[in-house]
Amino acid sequence: ITVYVPRDASALSLGADAVAKAIEAEAVSRHVDVHTVRNGSRGLYWLEPLVEVETPEGRVAYGPVQPADVPGLFDAGFLHGGDDVLKLGLAEEIAWLKSQQRLTFARAGVVDPRSLDDYLAHAGFRGLAGALKMEPATIVQAVTESGLRGRGGAAFPAGIKWKTCLEATANQKYIVCNADEGDSGTFSDRMIMEGDPFVLIEGMAIAGLAVGATRGYIYLRIEYPHAQRALEAAIEAAKARGYLGDNLCGSGRAFHLEVRMAAGAYICGEETSLLESLEGKRGQVRFKPPLPAIQGLFGKPTVINNVVTLATVPIILDRGAAYYRDYGVGKSRGTLPLQLAGNVKRPGLVERAFGLTLRELIETYGGGTASGRPVRAVQVGGPLGAYIPASQLDTPIDYEAFAAIGGMLGHGGVVVFDDTVDMAAQARFAMEFCAIESCGKCTPCRIGSTRGVEVIDRMVAGDAAEKARNEVLLRDLCQTMVAGSLCALGGMAPFPVLSALDHFHEDFEGAKQ
Ligand code: NAI
Ligand code: SF4
Repeated sequence: ITVYVPRDASALSLGADAVAKAIEAEAVSRHVDVHTVRNGSRGLYWLEPLVEVETPEGRVAYGPVQPADVPGLFDAGFLHGGDDVLKLGLAEEIAWLKSQQRLTFARAGVVDPRSLDDYLAHAGFRGLAGALKMEPATIVQAVTESGLRGRGGAAFPAGIKWKTCLEATANQKYIVCNADEGDSGTFSDRMIMEGDPFVLIEGMAIAGLAVGATRGYIYLRIEYPHAQRALEAAIEAAKARGYLGDNLCGSGRAFHLEVRMAAGAYICGEETSLLESLEGKRGQVRFKPPLPAIQGLFGKPTVINNVVTLATVPIILDRGAAYYRDYGVGKSRGTLPLQLAGNVKRPGLVERAFGLTLRELIETYGGGTASGRPVRAVQVGGPLGAYIPASQLDTPIDYEAFAAIGGMLGHGGVVVFDDTVDMAAQARFAMEFCAIESCGKCTPCRIGSTRGVEVIDRMVAGDAAEKARNEVLLRDLCQTMVAGSLCALGGMAPFPVLSALDHFHEDFEGAKQ
């Protein structure tokens, strides 16, 4: 009997290892033959550790399971799908999951991340097989036609980026995966690297074929040791079976891939400081142009894409550009793996086609706030994203609709706050975050963010006249940072501050006279 217990970092933090051990020990003491597979998470985090049992009807889920629950589960006959208070029914039938459109995350939580055979059995490496039969320009065209845009946050069309790199001439090109997932409330990169690492390997190999790059690097967040282990094991397995190396699937084409651990700084997720760091230098932002696609790693043409972008490429090559493009709305094509976090009852990974509303996400999937209090603000797009007031919850989740309300989708992180939040404190936090994480290269960010914290403090503490004076100063400073910063950190840190001022002004007003 096969039992699945996730090895995903979040499930581990909730005791998944102890649950796996308890199940194995109980099986031994009851003389039953149990085979434990350590899968990734399906992203229903409030139900982790989520244990699944393979039955003739399908995989039956139980959760959240604690080690003390295990003897009772055996008594209830859970190895055959027996009833128990923790029983959730067939995993695939759980409404929260079933209503999703999992394209990029199709295998997450389903397959054994350490098994290449399991990956192959679930349509793995079919995109690569297709790409090996195509001309580079045709692969790039497929990605362009799919409408895929960069899922790291900037939403730049992936096909156009690849085309720039393909058209650059050089004796060496590189594919770099930005896996330095630093945004608050985000975890989709981690989840897919831990739960389905082969899909990233496949996506990077296809990118290599598309632009003529024979080497790739995954620049991985240092705080992701579980993802590191999953990726390294998958890379070794792929090499051993000819899915990486000098002779990809016997085609004579080469693609080599390595994992590099990041430097532990938020700014190293910015693509040019990532390149500096990968080259062994201090992670400081470079001027653009030249674009990395023309002059990137070690001065060579380089495609840098986020994990989710690259992990979406295999399904596009396998099912065709039109298949992917058919999902979504307007210029936001395909699906977005949203990460629901903060004050919600049911946090987790929701992959849906663009177009659902923020309200649907928070109410239908999230189940409202965990505290039971009303939603007051939602920060979408990480620490540089605007705070969206409850009155704008009906905004559709697509890049253009968010831009129209002064927000951004970024990497798809959604953090919910209830009515106890102090928005002046959140605005201060945004400026302080920028001051701490600034690489120091340009003045508006390096000095502006520090002054910004002081101005907010004076505004909050001051009397009415001082509040008004400092608000003018703060808005002026934000404008200078937006217009004059070299990269998105200084250039976008004012957005949460301005959104707090615009939508939650009462929190800055206080009672002082
Ligand atoms: P950007 O708009 O400057 O560039 C987007 C991408 O397109 C870059 O890779 C750039 O090199 C490329 N590009 C632009 N024109 C091109 C052309 N003609 N040919 C080829 N490539 C071209 O944005 P940037 O600074 O790279 O990213 C900012 C975004 O990063 C923010 O919107 C934010 O959402 C996101 N972000 C994500 C974080 C995360 O943890 N995932 C953390 C912090 C910010
Ligand atoms: Fe560095 Fe900030 Fe300037 Fe970006 S905006 S280059 S992080 S100082």
